[in-house]
Amino acid sequence: MTRFRLVEKDIYYVGESDFKCSKFENHIPIPGGMAYNSYLLVDEKTVLFDASDASVSDMFLENISGLLDSLNRKLDYVVVTHMEPDHSSSLKRVLEKYVDSKVVYNKKTQTMFKQFFGYTFEGREILVSEGEKLDTGEHVLEFFMAPMVHWPEVMMCYDHKTKSLFSADAFGAFGSLSGNLFDTEIEFDEKIIEDYRRYYANIVGKYGPQVLKTLEKASSFEIETILPLHGFVLKKEIGKMIGLYSLWAAYKSEKKGVLIVYASMYDHTKSVSLTLATYLKEKGIKDIKVYDVSAQDPTYLVSEAFKYSDIVLASVTHNNNIYITMEEFLLSLVSMNVQNRNFYFIENGTWAPVSAKLMKDKLSVLKNCTFSENTLTIRSAYKQEDQGAFDILVDEIVTNVGK
Ligand SMILES: Cc1cc2nc3c(=O)[nH]c(=O)nc-3n(C[C@H](O)[C@H](O)[C@H](O)COP(=O)(O)O)c2cc1C
Ligand SMILES: [Fe+2]
Ligand SMILES: [Fe+2]
Repeated sequence: MTRFRLVEKDIYYVGESDFKCSKFENHIPIPGGMAYNSYLLVDEKTVLFDASDASVSDMFLENISGLLDSLNRKLDYVVVTHMEPDHSSSLKRVLEKYVDSKVVYNKKTQTMFKQFFGYTFEGREILVSEGEKLDTGEHVLEFFMAPMVHWPEVMMCYDHKTKSLFSADAFGAFGSLSGNLFDTEIEFDEKIIEDYRRYYANIVGKYGPQVLKTLEKASSFEIETILPLHGFVLKKEIGKMIGLYSLWAAYKSEKKGVLIVYASMYDHTKSVSLTLATYLKEKGIKDIKVYDVSAQDPTYLVSEAFKYSDIVLASVTHNNNIYITMEEFLLSLVSMNVQNRNFYFIENGTWAPVSAKLMKDKLSVLKNCTFSENTLTIRSAYKQEDQGAFDILVDEIVTNVGK
């Protein structure tokens, strides 16, 4: 049984979703599965935009042949906008099946493909570079490079006829597609945006400057549809997504609000964190989220850090160190180059609390961040004598969030 769907004049969706895989790139939880999008343009020439992950390649190939056979057409070109194996691992099968087709990619893609798979498609390659066009009949496809969004070889492609942007991994999201393909077919609410934000923060997050450059380039085109390699086809929400990408890429927070992440073994640090949240609420701060760092995969927490302006880190001292799950979270923040945030610290220790200093040291490389001097130190459990330091911390957070 094959599945394909018209997404634009002459452009069909032929991608597939994987519901079985539980971790994308072998570490990022994807409870909703993952969609590997692929599009087929049927013009005087036919063009496939990107292949698929190996996990869905059987059904993906059936989708292509189902469509082409029904129209009595053959495949002329395969454009590779991004050669990461989640898109290119089935490319060989496509080219073996459609022996007259040619692969369209850039020099970097060619080199990387050879590195991964040990061969290229000699005699069947069309190398394209910045600004080059491919005329397929009614449609004119224009290629432009999007280096480090999020790999060096990435390029995007604009179809002048339908005003569609093939955006590679940009504007993608976690989650499979279950019949719904367009952003107009779902409730595009915060729940969905979480899948986009977590995808951005963890896959593309490190490369903000490169994303901004690519957004700038793309802004010279009038875009009515975005066709990404993961997630929904965007039509209605393009403005919203470009707005969010502009914030995320500049490492600006979406919300004035407080993210509290705590590490606790016997719940005393947890108790202080929840009390802090309660006080902040009473002082009028609307948006507060509290997470147990050990109960949450760091990819969710990094995503929240891209959203909130102010971040409280509360950790027990553990063998003279930061608690291990908190340390992993901090490493992710550093790795994703988070910026422009206010950080606050709560430490707990029974004999020699040092976790606040260690957390601050870890984060000191982050740009344009403030690191509160008002560390709250708890010795095993909160006591009345801690109230003064607690109140000072509350006041500082309220003042900063209120600014
Ligand atoms: C394995 C282990 C190692 C610890 N190492 C330290 C330490 O190096 N320094 C310290 O002051 N407290 C240390 N503690 C005490 C913790 O910081 C203690 O859990 C904390 O004071 C109570 O907070 P909680 O209820 O949030 O876990 C350690 C506790 C455990 C179980
Ligand atoms: Fe990718
Ligand atoms: Fe991808």
